[in-house]
Amino acid sequence: MTSELSFSPASPRPPHPGTFVVLEGGDGSGKSTQARILAARLEEAGHDVVLTREPGGTEVGERLRELVLRQGQGEIDPHTEALIYAAARAAHAHQLIGPALERGAVVVCDRYIDSSAAYQGAGRGLGEGPVTALSRWATEDLQPDLTVVLDVPLADARERMGGRGDGADRLEAEPDAFHSRVNASFARLAERAERGRAAVDGTGAVEAVAARVWDAVEPLLGTPRPADEGGGEGLR
Ligand code: TYD
Repeated sequence: MTSELSFSPASPRPPHPGTFVVLEGGDGSGKSTQARILAARLEEAGHDVVLTREPGGTEVGERLRELVLRQGQGEIDPHTEALIYAAARAAHAHQLIGPALERGAVVVCDRYIDSSAAYQGAGRGLGEGPVTALSRWATEDLQPDLTVVLDVPLADARERMGGRGDGADRLEAEPDAFHSRVNASFARLAERAERGRAAVDGTGAVEAVAARVWDAVEPLLGTPRPADEGGGEGLR
C-alpha cells in the first residue's frame, strides 16, 4: 500500500462577500507604508477595513513572528522556517482573514503566500511550488482577490533599509545574493500577470506609489459595506 502526502485542499472554498488585497515585495520595497496608506484610503471611502500583516495578525502568529524573526534564538533550518511561516498563516487565515471576508470586509494584508514562495521557495531553495502548495493547504486555499507586487530594484531597497542598521531581523540580515533570489522570484510572479496579480512600480515618492497602488485596487471594490457592530477592527 502506498500512502501519499497530498497538499491539495480538501474541497473548494465557498465564495465570500469581502475583498482580500495583499501587498508583496522584497525587504525595503515600502509595502508596509503602502498597506497603511491603502487601508486609510479605503476607510475614508467608507469600507470596513482590516489591516493586518504576516507573519502575525493573531496571537499565535505574533508569537511565531518573534520566533522566526528575532536573531540569536538558535538555528532554524529552512524546512522549519517554512513550516513556521505556514503555521502563522494557517492561524491568520482561519482566525482573522476568513471571518473578516465572510462579514464583507476589505482585508489589506502586508505579505501572504507569495512571500513564502519567494523567501523560502527561492531564497532558501525549497522550491516555489512545494512551498506554495503547503500554504494553500494551511489556509484551505484562501486566495487573495489581488496581490500587488511592489517592484523596487534591489540597490534602492537596500538603501532604504540602510537606516535600520543593527536592527535588521533574521531575514533582512541575509546577504545580497539571498535577496536577489527573493526579488527575482517576486518579479517572475508579477510578470506572469495572471488574474489576481499586479506589478506596481514602487520607485519614486510615497504618494506617487500610493496612487499607482490605488489604481490597481479600485476596480475590485464594490459599494462600501461599513463596519457594523460586528467588528471592523484591524490588529495593528
Ligand atoms: P516584514 O513584516 O516585511 O518585515 P518588516 O517588519 O521589516 O517590515 O516581514 C518580515 C520578514 O519575514 C521579511 O524579511 C520577509 C520574511 N517572510 C518570509 O521569509 N516568509 C514569509 O512567508 C513571510 C510572510 C515573511
